[in-house]
Amino acid sequence: MTTLISTREELDAALAETAPTAVVMTMGALHEGHAELMREARRRLAEGGRLIVTDFVNPTQFGAGEDFDRYPRTLDADVAICERNGVDIVFAPSVDEVYGNAGLGITVDPGPRGDILEGASRPGHFAGVLTVVAKLLHITRPHIALFGEKDYQQLVLIRDMVAALDFPVEVVGVPTVREADGLAMSSRNRYLSDDARACAATIPQALAAGQAAAGDGIEAVVAAVRALMGAPHIDIDYVAVTDESLNDPSLGRSGRLLVAVTIDGTRLIDNVPVQWEQAQ
Ligand code: PAJ
Repeated sequence: MTTLISTREELDAALAETAPTAVVMTMGALHEGHAELMREARRRLAEGGRLIVTDFVNPTQFGAGEDFDRYPRTLDADVAICERNGVDIVFAPSVDEVYGNAGLGITVDPGPRGDILEGASRPGHFAGVLTVVAKLLHITRPHIALFGEKDYQQLVLIRDMVAALDFPVEVVGVPTVREADGLAMSSRNRYLSDDARACAATIPQALAAGQAAAGDGIEAVVAAVRALMGAPHIDIDYVAVTDESLNDPSLGRSGRLLVAVTIDGTRLIDNVPVQWEQAQ
C-alpha cells in the first residue's frame, strides 16, 4: 500500500523505523521513465526495504519565463502509478514545506559544469536542482537514490555533489526509457502538438546518425546530428560531445553525445553514449 504524505513531521514519524531506503525524486506528471526508476529501486532494495518517491515541482530550478506555472500537476494519477510500482511513500510537500526554513540565501554551487550545456541556456538551473536534491536527500535519508540518464548533466552533477560533499548515499543512474519511435519519455512531451510530436522523432534518429558517424571522429558526429536536425521547425540549442564527466572529450575514445532543441516552443533534451575510433 502506498501512503501519501505532505508534511515533514509525518514523514519523520514514518521513517523512524529503520529499513533500507531508496528514493526516486520527481516533479510528478509521472510516466514509464519514472516507473522504471521505481522498478530498478525495488530490484535493488533488500526484502522489506522502503521505497520513497518525492513528487515536487521545484520552483528554484525554473528560470523567469520558463514553464513552472504550467508544468503538469497530476498527483492522483501519480499516486496510482506509484501504487502499481511498489512504492511505500509518496512525499508530495508544498513549496512552503520544503523552503519555509530556508530564507538564508544558502544554495549548493554546481561549479563550472553547472554553466555549460543546459546551464548556459538556463542560468541558475543546476543550483536550484542541487539545492533541492540535497534538501530532499536530508529529508528522506535514503541509502540509495536513483536518477535517469535522460537528464545526463543533472545525473553527473548530482553524483559529483554527493562525492564532493560526502553525502552518505549511493547514486544509481538508470538508462533512458523511450517511446516506440525512440523519443525519450518526458513530462514535457505532453506539451507537443501532433505535428511537433512527429517532428520530435527526428531527435533520436539524429543521435543514432551521430553514433554511426563516430568512426570518423567527434566533428563528424556533431555534423551528422546537425544535418538530420536541420528542419526549419527544429531550433537547435546545442549539439555537444563530452567525456563521461562532461569534460573535454579529446583525450579519450568514448563519451556522451548531448542535444537540446526547441520544437514549437517546447524545449527537449536527449543524449546517448558514443564511442569514436580515431584519436582527436
Ligand atoms: P523529473 O523531470 O520529474 O525527473 C525525475 C527523474 O526521472 C530524473 O532522475 C529523470 O532523469 C528521470 N527520468 C525522466 N525521464 C526519464 C526517462 N525517459 N527515462 C529514464 N529516466 C527518466 O529531474 C527532475 O524531475 C528534477 O530535476 C528533480 C531531480 C526531481 C529535482 O527537482
